Amino acid sequence: MKIELKTERLIIRNFVSDDWKSYKFVKELKDFFIAKESSPYAVYDSRWPTDDDSILKMAEWMPQHNHHLAICLPSDNTFIGYIFHMDGDNGLGIGYAIHSAYQNNGYGTEAVRGFIDYAFHNMGAKCVLAGTANNNIPSVRLLEKLNFKKVNEHAQSHRQDKQGNPINFIESLYTYSLK
Ligand SMILES: CC(C)(COP(=O)(O)OP(=O)(O)OC[C@H]1O[C@@H](n2cnc3c(N)ncnc32)[C@H](O)[C@@H]1OP(=O)(O)O)[C@@H](O)C(=O)NCCC(=O)NCCS
Repeated sequence: MKIELKTERLIIRNFVSDDWKSYKFVKELKDFFIAKESSPYAVYDSRWPTDDDSILKMAEWMPQHNHHLAICLPSDNTFIGYIFHMDGDNGLGIGYAIHSAYQNNGYGTEAVRGFIDYAFHNMGAKCVLAGTANNNIPSVRLLEKLNFKKVNEHAQSHRQDKQGNPINFIESLYTYSLK
């Protein structure tokens, strides 16, 4: 499904094969994943590779699967983050991330607000679901500000520590439905 939407300050769109012909875009993508992996919140998500080969593989993969949308600044198409979306039995699951250099400017909230509005009006979504670690304060705040409701919490683990032990945390599931 082709998706392109504009919010006040952002463009949210599919990754396209032309992105990978742009040295600037590929570099921004790589910087994004390096920054994401060095964040204290990285342990609450699956590991993303940051080596050149893997970034180039993503180059082929993301435009084909359409589950990730690029969040860009419209002035020069700067890549600042992504939104993930996937239909499930209970609704449309989403994930989101903003490059650490651009965080705390309202971009994350603006992007997710814009996307869920688009999903309800153009994708037939009835319910949007998001899971986040209770310790991930920016993500929890984002969901609360958008009036997501917490429906449950459960133990979760996406990574292991250096000794191979699972890094456990408490994750909450949030939902949002149109009234
Ligand atoms: C969650 C995330 C997308 C928020 O992006 P953002 O652009 O900073 O979001 P906003 O600027 O709209 O801010 C959202 C809330 O987070 C808070 N916040 C942002 N950066 C913060 C920081 N470094 N420390 C504490 N709070 C922070 C903001 O203060 C805001 O809450 P407030 O309005 O009550 O003050 C971003 O932190 C991120 O990419 N995190 C890593 C990926 C991730 O954890 N994704 C969520 C799981 S799917």
